[in-house]
Amino acid sequence: MEAKIVLLPGDGIGPEIINQAERVLEQIAARFGHRFHLERHLIGGIAIDQTGSPLPPETVAACHTSSAVLLGAVGGPKWDDPNAAVRPEQGLLGIRKELQLFANLRPIVTFAELVDASPLKRDVVEGTDILFFRELTGGIYFGDSGSGVVDGVESAFQTMAYSVPEVERIVRLAAEAAKGRRNHLVSVDKANVLEPSRLWRRVAQRVMSEEFPEVRFEVLLVDAMAMHLISRPRDFDVVVTSNLFGDILTDEASMLPGSLGMLPSASVGSAGPGLFEPIHGSAPDIAGKGIANPLATLLASAMMLRYSLHLETEAVAVETAVRDVLAAGLRTADIARGATTVNTVQMTDAVLAKLTA
Ligand code: IPM
Ligand code: MG
Repeated sequence: MEAKIVLLPGDGIGPEIINQAERVLEQIAARFGHRFHLERHLIGGIAIDQTGSPLPPETVAACHTSSAVLLGAVGGPKWDDPNAAVRPEQGLLGIRKELQLFANLRPIVTFAELVDASPLKRDVVEGTDILFFRELTGGIYFGDSGSGVVDGVESAFQTMAYSVPEVERIVRLAAEAAKGRRNHLVSVDKANVLEPSRLWRRVAQRVMSEEFPEVRFEVLLVDAMAMHLISRPRDFDVVVTSNLFGDILTDEASMLPGSLGMLPSASVGSAGPGLFEPIHGSAPDIAGKGIANPLATLLASAMMLRYSLHLETEAVAVETAVRDVLAAGLRTADIARGATTVNTVQMTDAVLAKLTA
């Protein structure tokens, strides 16, 4: 296979971890006889500094003509003013919208070796394996907004809206995924209060009963879900929810395995390139020190191989190599809990060694 892959290192530890993903992708290409054309482009704070825009047109154009996009992280203290007119996060929201990546897949998987790093007890969390589908291009994040003085009082607003097709397409994707897993889907909303949630629930229930009667389906209110995620995380298989609720619940869920540095995510649309990234942020406190955990980004590369390039064997090879290095006891500082640590490059060296073994 020949494929163009756009790398968007971004800010903070982004460049360090993307460098490691590049090494692993080259190794995969060599071992399985593919040609990957890896092209770097600007996004986020570094793009603001160099071009004035968090998402320069060249970046968008390159992504459109690629097979897949691999992103590091965006943002940092330098660009942190939430009132600034131009912010790194706009680059991320912009590329999601440009590529119409309406579904964000966030797998929350516990690694047996790391469970003791979880803030929850082993007997609650061990074996947790949840796949979140977060709607990514609609809802309140993209609704009408504004601010001004109303009746002499300073005010601001942001609208939440969903349409039937927006709900249908993500529910279908999530239901398909459930069929290939433990056949259980939970849809999360706030239908007791919010009008778009009532639409969401109605559409989800119809799609599930008409098209996926064999999938066990439940609905939960988002506040209750926030509790259940902590008290009985193992009971969830696939979860589908809106943009805002998905943003919050996946951050909550990311704490379950005890290792944010291990979690990848994939954003996909119905056609065109997908975008793959670690769940963690740009970690400015450790940027440039060479100690960041590269594994989430390597697992994001595996998701890219699977979902955008349809290279399942290659994806599994990367995932297996990551599991193997953990089993062999290698730990970066974030997951060390007192054990001896390796740095970013050493961790990747170990993954590469497993890949060639
Ligand atoms: C995420 C992040 C982004 C989001 C921010 C950086 C805009 O929190 O990917 O979850 O809210 O989508
Ligand atoms: Mg978030």
